Amino acid sequence: MAKISSLTILLVFLLSCSSFISTEAYDALDPNGNITIKWDIMSWTPDGYVAVVTMYNFQKYRHIQAPGWTLGWTWAKKEVIWSMMGGQTTEQGDCSRFKGNIPHCCKKDPKVVDLMPGTPYNQQIANCCKGGVINSWVQDPANAASSFQLSVGSAGTTNKTVRVPKNFTLKAPGPGYTCGPAKIVRPSKFVTADQRRITQALMTWNVTCTYSQFLAQKTPTCCVSLSSFYNSTIVPCPTCTCGCQNNLTQPGSCVDPNSPYLASAVSSGKNIYTPLVQCTTHMCPIRVHWHVKLNYKEYWRVKITITNFNYRMNYTQWNLVVQHPNFDNLTQIFSFNYKSLTPYTAINDTAMLWGVKFYNDLLMQAGPLGNVQSELLFQKDKSTFSFEKGWAFPRRIYFNGDNCVMPPPDAYPWLPNTSSQLFVSPLCSVMTILASLVFLLANT
Ligand SMILES: *[C@@H]1O[C@H](CO)[C@@H](O)[C@H](O)[C@H]1NC(C)=O
Ligand SMILES: *[C@@H]1O[C@H](CO)[C@@H](O)[C@H](O)[C@H]1NC(C)=O
Ligand SMILES: *[C@@H]1O[C@H](CO)[C@@H](O)[C@H](O)[C@H]1NC(C)=O
Ligand SMILES: *[C@@H]1O[C@H](CO)[C@@H](O)[C@H](O)[C@H]1NC(C)=O
Ligand SMILES: *[C@@H]1O[C@H](CO)[C@@H](O)[C@H](O)[C@H]1NC(C)=O
Ligand SMILES: *[C@@H]1O[C@H](CO)[C@@H](O)[C@H](O)[C@H]1NC(C)=O
Ligand SMILES: *[C@@H]1O[C@H](CO)[C@@H](O)[C@H](O)[C@H]1NC(C)=O
Ligand SMILES: *[C@@H]1O[C@H](CO)[C@@H](O)[C@H](O)[C@H]1NC(C)=O
Ligand SMILES: *[C@@H]1O[C@H](CO)[C@@H](O)[C@H](O)[C@H]1NC(C)=O
Repeated sequence: MAKISSLTILLVFLLSCSSFISTEAYDALDPNGNITIKWDIMSWTPDGYVAVVTMYNFQKYRHIQAPGWTLGWTWAKKEVIWSMMGGQTTEQGDCSRFKGNIPHCCKKDPKVVDLMPGTPYNQQIANCCKGGVINSWVQDPANAASSFQLSVGSAGTTNKTVRVPKNFTLKAPGPGYTCGPAKIVRPSKFVTADQRRITQALMTWNVTCTYSQFLAQKTPTCCVSLSSFYNSTIVPCPTCTCGCQNNLTQPGSCVDPNSPYLASAVSSGKNIYTPLVQCTTHMCPIRVHWHVKLNYKEYWRVKITITNFNYRMNYTQWNLVVQHPNFDNLTQIFSFNYKSLTPYTAINDTAMLWGVKFYNDLLMQAGPLGNVQSELLFQKDKSTFSFEKGWAFPRRIYFNGDNCVMPPPDAYPWLPNTSSQLFVSPLCSVMTILASLVFLLANT
């Protein structure tokens, strides 16, 4: 009996731990988000074809950052890659059956990566050579695609004999994407630069890859903390959101900023995709803090701070997605870019925020510079606005497309009972200063 009940407790404990983990691949804020790979055959050659392969990032807010994508597939027959432009395979493989001209790659399952910026012009094509970085659709549509060209040999030479490759894989740069089968679609059309002529591919196939946060990493990577001017309580990220500090089972799972071993721990990184986080109660690489800062008669103001606790990552072109009902009346935003996302066309409650180029679009590695901040000014809609029941706090936050774990709603800062006069008053200002002081202290 005792055994069973302790087992039950363990089970309940495990279940409550795993309830933090989102297992869904479907993203309600970007239900059609995908990366589509389009393979256009531009010409037939004596033993195969020349194709341009383009990856389109049709995700609103998930980008691929350095060190970039790796695209793989398995050839259906004995195809080889004679040459490439704007990309290269990571391994040549065994080309010993060839004499004279040696192909670029003879592997059955080639893996292609982008070339780096600064590649000589004669090896470039349009949309190439960005080190595998692809921006998100909303943030930078002009840089949301990546292309390379390949000349395929030992392949079919007509649209009847050519075989589509199988088993597409996309690493971006880690796991997370699952690609479907290639589907032959209507040939792509291309408009010439002067818009006076339309050409078309000889044959086209598409592959769609979708992202699952659960496949990418088993634990969350981001959490949210909250505070307000009307209550001095700072609600921290839930304990153990992204892992627990445990010296016994996982020594070195985090580092203390004052530790003399910090520098060697950072440089001895065995795998740059494994975060090396600063020791905190939540152990997340990223924390987003939402502070309800000021209350005016017609407006209210929020301060958002994103803090990087990962010593092994500079987040380039980071983005934040925030859901709050007052975004339909956002009046001003300081030092971040903003675009409204409307997943449910009628409701304008979701915003995408990202850094200003060359100012704060780089979220530096953990340390004194590892944070970015912004303030938002909302106009009150008298029929819905309230400081009660946590209304002023966000409903949902994503960092770089990954869901940030919120504190439980019953822990949100409460409005004091004597709350009838909340407009900016000396008392409020004092409380604001106190709250920000406490937050600053907690931060250091
Ligand atoms: C991929 O995204 C595009 C753009 O949102 C959409 O039109 C298309 O239907 C999506 N494809 C799939 C298979 O979901
Ligand atoms: C193959 O090419 C022929 C014309 O050469 C065309 O009629 C046919 O639709 C093409 N098939 C595909 C799958 O593109
Ligand atoms: C494709 O991948 C699946 C699972 O990884 C594997 O079982 C299958 O053999 C692969 N097919 C080819 C043609 O390599
Ligand atoms: C194939 O992909 C291209 C580029 O993403 C897209 O424009 C086209 O509509 C897709 N075709 C189909 C049938 O999904
Ligand atoms: C882990 O070890 C460090 C120093 O070795 C110590 O400061 C810290 O309190 C320990 N943490 C736990 C949770 O035991
Ligand atoms: C982050 O950028 C800074 C400044 O460019 C650089 O010194 C540091 O090594 C970078 N850190 C990582 C983890 O790439
Ligand atoms: C949503 O509201 C914001 C702020 O009022 C406005 O700038 C934006 O255009 C709105 N978006 C849509 C799709 O209505
Ligand atoms: C913004 O707030 C004003 C004042 O309450 C209101 O009249 C207006 O309808 C609101 N706008 C939206 C888009 O809700
Ligand atoms: C502040 O909020 C906390 C809940 O997070 C609550 O326990 C506390 O009573 C509130 N303080 C005041 C002064 O209302």
